[in-house]
Amino acid sequence: MTIFIKNEAIIIRSLTSEDELEKLMTLENQVWPADLACSKENFHLRYNYFKDGFLIAVTPNGKTVGSFYGIFYDYYIGRGINWHIDSGDGTGSSHSPNANSMFGISITCSKDAPEGTMRSIVEAWKLLGKKFNKKYIYGGSRLCGFHQYQGSIEDYVKGVSSGKLFDPVLTKWLACGMKPGAIIKNYFEDPESKNYGVEIYLECDS
Ligand SMILES: CC(C)(COP(=O)(O)OP(=O)(O)OC[C@H]1O[C@@H](n2cnc3c(N)ncnc32)[C@H](O)[C@@H]1OP(=O)(O)O)[C@@H](O)C(=O)NCCC(=O)NCCS
Repeated sequence: MTIFIKNEAIIIRSLTSEDELEKLMTLENQVWPADLACSKENFHLRYNYFKDGFLIAVTPNGKTVGSFYGIFYDYYIGRGINWHIDSGDGTGSSHSPNANSMFGISITCSKDAPEGTMRSIVEAWKLLGKKFNKKYIYGGSRLCGFHQYQGSIEDYVKGVSSGKLFDPVLTKWLACGMKPGAIIKNYFEDPESKNYGVEIYLECDS
């Protein structure tokens, strides 16, 4: 077990054993809509393909408030991402040990997570990428406020990136230091985002 971040509010660490998946599944089912939540079977497949890709966020009194899973996969800015293909349909089977980057398949924070939990998870993800000598951490951000916006996807992403518009997910990735890359069509089936996403990335050495 490796501890990546530890402060008065939060600890971000790897898992101690496969049994801890239960804690992540409980959180997953509290936060994600049923049709988007990762299944129990996929949690175990993820563990078997790349258990080091899991991060768990716990409070000092032991409450699980956040989780992350990522794999190694090749990336360059603007490559585009298809969540299903790149994640091996959510199983992590696409994990490629020698790839240049670390792809974030999923991040989740509970509504009562201490302030700074998401930022600490991103920081720990970067440390994990660095530990394995990867160039980028990257993923796709959902754009779950887009269904309420009247204009084009390009204008929406520009507006959120410049801080004029708020998106419940992309705004937070950017606040945590991730940079926006290319717009992704058909990121995954996600009605709120109208299936769009946007690449988010960070150099591990930054
Ligand atoms: C997306 C998700 C992980 C964000 O977690 P969260 O706990 O709501 O995030 P936070 O409130 O800590 O916000 C993260 C950062 O954004 C900032 N932020 C929040 N609202 C903001 C706003 N209106 N304007 C600017 N910055 C804002 C926060 O201040 C924080 O930065 P800080 O640590 O420097 O203070 C969480 O909502 C979640 O699990 N959602 C469901 C699953 C999901 O959609 N995952 C993402 C898939 S791409």
